[in-house]
Amino acid sequence: MTKTVISADADRQLLSDHVDLRIAAVEEGAADRNAIVELDPDHPGFRDAAYRARRNQIAQLALSYKPGEPIPDAPYTAEEHEVWRTIWNALKPAHQTFACAEYLAALERLRFEPDRIPQLRKVNERVHAISGFRLEPVAGLVQPRVFLENLAGGVFLCTQYIRHHSTPLYTPEPDVVHEIVGHGVTLASSRLAELNRLFGEAVKMTADSDALKRLSRVYWFTIEFGVLLEDGKVKAYGTGLLSSAGELAEMHKAELRSFDLDAASRQEYDPTHFQPILFCANSFDRMYQTLREYLTRWKAA
Ligand SMILES: [Fe+2]
Repeated sequence: MTKTVISADADRQLLSDHVDLRIAAVEEGAADRNAIVELDPDHPGFRDAAYRARRNQIAQLALSYKPGEPIPDAPYTAEEHEVWRTIWNALKPAHQTFACAEYLAALERLRFEPDRIPQLRKVNERVHAISGFRLEPVAGLVQPRVFLENLAGGVFLCTQYIRHHSTPLYTPEPDVVHEIVGHGVTLASSRLAELNRLFGEAVKMTADSDALKRLSRVYWFTIEFGVLLEDGKVKAYGTGLLSSAGELAEMHKAELRSFDLDAASRQEYDPTHFQPILFCANSFDRMYQTLREYLTRWKAA
């Protein structure tokens, strides 16, 4: 069992939207893919018995899921579809302004509806046809090593629940919005999907825990919080940015550092605040080539 540990106090409502604890808590998390998130007393949904029951029901779908089978649809309520609509209305204009071209092209391919939470089954079918990646449901948060190693086999372990309706722009753990709007879309780009696979392969070759920490920081500053220049403007390709309107609106305040992955591997970060430091590549091609070479070298070392 793993617990959510991020406080839900009001001034963090947007700040924590992006938190992906699978990467941030390298030493924590459950060792197998069937762990269930146990809600902390200050989780927005803690006192909502119906929400907790639905979370358990959705977790149960994942627990009984067998890889390769069709993914069962999650029983979202009208209230939860409304949460999606609210988030989508905030994200759509933010994407047009701040998302990189590679992401926008991938987003088009997935054809999300503005007022319905996409079912994992459908997103998976489209992503798989594009990049060969499979999205598989998991009940909760798994250890970074489990999560990252699955990428090597082209599998993205995906939570299916959505955040509580009382805080549509806040979630203390990655939910279906982060998974699908962030990771799902980027996996519908064959080049970003390839980088995800390479991360997984590099993790598989990494036994040492300090080395795993360095690699997970590189993942954080690229796959989660990567930015790059397009026509002189800073654009996001990181899933933590692209799944949060708050993060996208704040990213121009960050100190931009040159795309030095050794430096990124040493850079500490605080997942509970907007990121004050981002590593910015000069172009998508430059990011792709540099990260690809870095991960390939890592595997060979
Ligand atoms: Fe993430």
